[in-house]
Amino acid sequence: MDRCKDLIDYNQQWAADRVSEDPEFFERLCAIQEPEFLWIGCSDSRVPANQITGLQPGEVFVHRNIANVVPREDVNSASVIQFAVDTLRVQHIIVCGHYGCGGVKAALGPSLEDPLEFWVEHLRRIRDKNSDELDALPDEDSRWRRLCELNVLTQAENLARLRVVRAAWQRGQALAIHSWIYDLRDGLLKDLGFSRDGL
Ligand code: CO
Repeated sequence: MDRCKDLIDYNQQWAADRVSEDPEFFERLCAIQEPEFLWIGCSDSRVPANQITGLQPGEVFVHRNIANVVPREDVNSASVIQFAVDTLRVQHIIVCGHYGCGGVKAALGPSLEDPLEFWVEHLRRIRDKNSDELDALPDEDSRWRRLCELNVLTQAENLARLRVVRAAWQRGQALAIHSWIYDLRDGLLKDLGFSRDGL
């Protein structure tokens, strides 16, 4: 109970500090939202988008779900992407996974109860599609790490095929897709190499 009060107390101090540093901080943010980035990351509490990238309020539009997936039939992530591209006109979409992802690990294990199993199915499909590569790896830990990477790459490729993204490129809108992974062990981001900025 008291821990929640701590959060409110912290917030009051934080808001006061912002205003003392920059009296128009909140006024400016109220007037307009124009983030340059859309971040698609995992819900994992250890991978907070703003903190690990140094981005301030107003600078990144964030969507997080278990294992950072963007299934075509998922209305939630699809709406976020549509709004970010068509209305906010973000210039970068960053798909960021992380090593040690529990959602990805679940796809290497036994079946779960719904609705989690329904969600993890998206990852099982990526595992199945890449089973030759994964099975050739020496141990479970290497398979887990590689599947974390393959998931990010798959999601980034899926984004590049989305109608809303292709339409943006067709009308000449600046928009780049990036595939990153975060390592919980050292706090570092790594570019996995897939990127696209046009048709
Ligand atoms: Co995760």
